Amino acid sequence: MPLRWSLAIELKLNYIHDAPTELTTAPMNIALEDTFADILGKAQRGLELSDTEIGEKARISSQKVRELRDGTFDELTALRVAPVLGLAGRALVSLAKGDWQPAPVELRGLAQFSTRYGDMLVNSYLAWDPDSKEAVAFDTGADCSDMLRLVMKEKLAVLLILLTHSHPDHIADLKRLSNETGAPAYISGRESAPGAEPIDEGKRFRMGTLDIESRLTWGHSKGGMTFVIRGLARPVAIAGDSIFAGSMGGGSVSYEAALENNREKILTLPNETIICPGHGPMTTVGEEKEHNPFFAGHAGEEQ
Ligand SMILES: [Fe+2]
Repeated sequence: MPLRWSLAIELKLNYIHDAPTELTTAPMNIALEDTFADILGKAQRGLELSDTEIGEKARISSQKVRELRDGTFDELTALRVAPVLGLAGRALVSLAKGDWQPAPVELRGLAQFSTRYGDMLVNSYLAWDPDSKEAVAFDTGADCSDMLRLVMKEKLAVLLILLTHSHPDHIADLKRLSNETGAPAYISGRESAPGAEPIDEGKRFRMGTLDIESRLTWGHSKGGMTFVIRGLARPVAIAGDSIFAGSMGGGSVSYEAALENNREKILTLPNETIICPGHGPMTTVGEEKEHNPFFAGHAGEEQ
């Protein structure tokens, strides 16, 4: 992680913890979750290709492939390897050079919380109808204190907790959030979390002006859900680890399904749709269609 970003995150976290009364909903400067080497690794594991196989297809030595994968960036090598891994070369290069970071996102009725879980940062979100003050929490992160502070500050009523998936960093504070809000929690029926009720794809929740639809975007996890919110000034997709700004959560269960679900159920939303990922900064459908190496242009067709 570049030092300037890690400093920005530390300062922001300290700011939140030291001065809760000044808690803000302004966007946070969170670094991209994955480096170009992380992206290559996810694609390589997903396609189950060895360094030697990639080298043969890209007509370069396996040593060069290994060096790239280990984080030594070389543009020509990256452009050779990208199409073999089904990645968009130019998007990968631009990300590796630090030329792209999604524009900061700010939307009335939406807040992002970033908390530290071990050596990583994890996001949770709150969305609310600014008029009725009815709110829904998405995941809990490592610690829901910041979320609860904002609930108090904005005088919100959290009526619902929706969980994107059951990986422990995303639901670590579920018991406390449930106790403090009294809200029911829901998760995909393909996964489970203590105290959460199962739901299927297509389940709709309506709350004030908000209309929330669940979409099954499995692949990273067995029952990963993306919740599409309509009723704020722009559509919002709470994506968990299905997709990240400039990357995706990785297809631990099925790489193919992860790619396909992201393409069909998230990137078909309007370009202005705000994507809220489980790690890294918020982004938009338009930005990801242009800059995410897994999806940019016609990924895999670049030569
Ligand atoms: Fe996850």
